[in-house]
Amino acid sequence: MQALSRNSGGALEDIVSLTPIGVPRHKVTVASLRDKKFQHESITCLTAYDYSSARLIDESDIDVVLVGDSLAMTMLGHENTLSLTVDEMLHHVKAARRGTKNALLMADMPYGSFHVNAEEAVRNATRLVKEGGAEMVKVEGGEKRADVIRRIIDAEIPVAGHIGLTPQSVNRMGGFKVQGKSLSDIERLMRDATELDRAGVACIFLEGIPREVAEMITNEVSTPTIGIGAGPGCDGQVLVFHDILNPTFGPAAKFVRRYGDAAAEITHAVQAFRADIMSRQYPSDNESYHLSAETRQALETLLERKRLMRARRQIAAVE
Ligand code: KIV
Repeated sequence: MQALSRNSGGALEDIVSLTPIGVPRHKVTVASLRDKKFQHESITCLTAYDYSSARLIDESDIDVVLVGDSLAMTMLGHENTLSLTVDEMLHHVKAARRGTKNALLMADMPYGSFHVNAEEAVRNATRLVKEGGAEMVKVEGGEKRADVIRRIIDAEIPVAGHIGLTPQSVNRMGGFKVQGKSLSDIERLMRDATELDRAGVACIFLEGIPREVAEMITNEVSTPTIGIGAGPGCDGQVLVFHDILNPTFGPAAKFVRRYGDAAAEITHAVQAFRADIMSRQYPSDNESYHLSAETRQALETLLERKRLMRARRQIAAVE
């Protein structure tokens, strides 16, 4: 349901969507993320890769639904994010789009989709918006990506930066390792953050860096920061959907907090389903469709007639 209303300032018209129980909620936009930073209100973000998870997240009032390229690992079973293509990303963005109403829908630019040249980067970002329905794209990298980020922003596409432990740099980093531990690394991170700020990004993801460094960056830049493994001093926090729910198959990183055990729930349900089939307790009569009494009677008459005809044919064959 959609309705138009005046915002509290009274001057601007603002689109408000209503939740099913009629409580008005504002659509999250680039501007509202910025407002949250200045009002010291935490920004919330979770990854989602399909319709149902995006819808559950959206209806739980999370600000940002991120279709992260972590889907290469969580959904597709790859060891890292490098092989993900723009077409694969689009497939998931479209599904998440259908489940996302009020949250801001952000899509990761896959590895290789913005590294060749700016034209290709803009073309790929445009596809994520036009075909996928993303409202913002995320680009890994700092200072050295600032020019390409400017070009994408020039194409009217809001961009999120992402610095620190950038998973697309796994081969350069020699693994998924915490970044920004030495003074020179801290200086580089500060430079990355200020360059992204200057380029006009809508927010900056800070991943896998010491909390002190994340806090310094957050205080330094005017753009909101969203942390993952970067301590409590960021303007917001993001986690991977699979990490908070545990449908994963390995040990969790230090910063992950589990809020449920979907793996145990799923295994329990699947095993119970299998056991019910094996013991013929599923499906029950109640879980089956039935013919009407009239059709059942007609069917029985038909079958009886067929049985009689078959018996007659058998007798005739013997004679
Ligand atoms: O791909 C992803 O899920 C991400 C988050 C971890 C920030 O980039």
